Amino acid sequence: MIPLFSVGRETYALKNEMLSAIEGVLDSSHFIGGKEVEKFEEEFARYCGSRFCVGISNGTEALVAALVALGVKYGDEVILPAFTFTATAEAVALCGAKPVFVDIHSDTDYNISIDALESALSKNTVAVIAVHLYGVPAEMEELRSFCKKNSLALIEDAAQAHGALYKNKKVGSLGDVACFSFYPTKNLGACGDAGALTTDSEEIARKVRLFINHGRKTHTEHIIVGTNARLDALQASLLRVKLPYLDEWCQKRSANWNYLKNALSEIKGLRIRTPSPILSPSWHIFVAETEKRDSLISYLKSNGVDAGVHYPLSLVELDAYNYLKPRKENFPESVSAAAKVFSLPVHPFLTDSELDKITDTVRGFFY
Ligand SMILES: Cc1ncc(COP(=O)(O)O)c(C=O)c1O
Repeated sequence: MIPLFSVGRETYALKNEMLSAIEGVLDSSHFIGGKEVEKFEEEFARYCGSRFCVGISNGTEALVAALVALGVKYGDEVILPAFTFTATAEAVALCGAKPVFVDIHSDTDYNISIDALESALSKNTVAVIAVHLYGVPAEMEELRSFCKKNSLALIEDAAQAHGALYKNKKVGSLGDVACFSFYPTKNLGACGDAGALTTDSEEIARKVRLFINHGRKTHTEHIIVGTNARLDALQASLLRVKLPYLDEWCQKRSANWNYLKNALSEIKGLRIRTPSPILSPSWHIFVAETEKRDSLISYLKSNGVDAGVHYPLSLVELDAYNYLKPRKENFPESVSAAAKVFSLPVHPFLTDSELDKITDTVRGFFY
């Protein structure tokens, strides 16, 4: 089976380097914080073109920490796309604030629609979360000017977009604060749960550090109610092994996406959205749409090509958000995308013959 993600192949390719990183941490016996975490934070901040990076236990906690550091609290409203992974909205709800859903584009990508933003504003709105879904950057200039005009904070949910560029600037440096997940299947994946947050604001970085480490000023002085959401040294050391490969992997993802797109774009009944040329996406997955999704996925799987659905339901269709009483008819693009999208492998470890097998198998289904 051609795997949807490259976790196994990455681990196999970098096994020796990873083992020596693990050995280094075991020898130091420094498992929480310390040199590996500090070095990873420095290296990832530099990679993103941000002044600060704080390692965090996972992407969801990075979003929570960002919201807490921005002062988001009970009664506040945070605007976010109706089509994303649930964690984007969960983080808002966990802070006691209200997720306010906005529909997505109908054409070039699956990100938040700028035209629909205005109608989501209220006197309680304090922030917008822009999700760079599938590795395609959201329209950050338009979002920045909307946030500036309305005095809102702008958070990037870059969990799927490590290495993507918006007008030649890396994601992670395009809003007030950016949140990353290093879940094993991500473009930069750890060997367990891990995440990070980047920002140019010293104040936000300081507040986040305090929050994720029990509100600790010194070992025994806890000056705010915080939590434990630290990145651990073993994960940091493994992320340091992989980070130098990330740009090369992103280029490979992009070449693979173009190859698949060119080979599949003629198929009637299949739709592939093409993002604006000002963007260099870091393609976490290859996404297309078809009315025949479920039978296509079964066909692919039974012919040795793994495929997935990200995501089969938009947030307005999830039971978790019933309490907000969202009206599905107000989010036609999100609901329609969720009913049709499917994901194909695009990872950097695909061989040429695997790319051909993917395109032949998809064609075999339609013709
Ligand atoms: C868009 C998005 N946001 C947030 C997260 C949460 O990250 P984590 O799984 O590391 O908590 C994910 C993870 O899949 C994601 O895809």
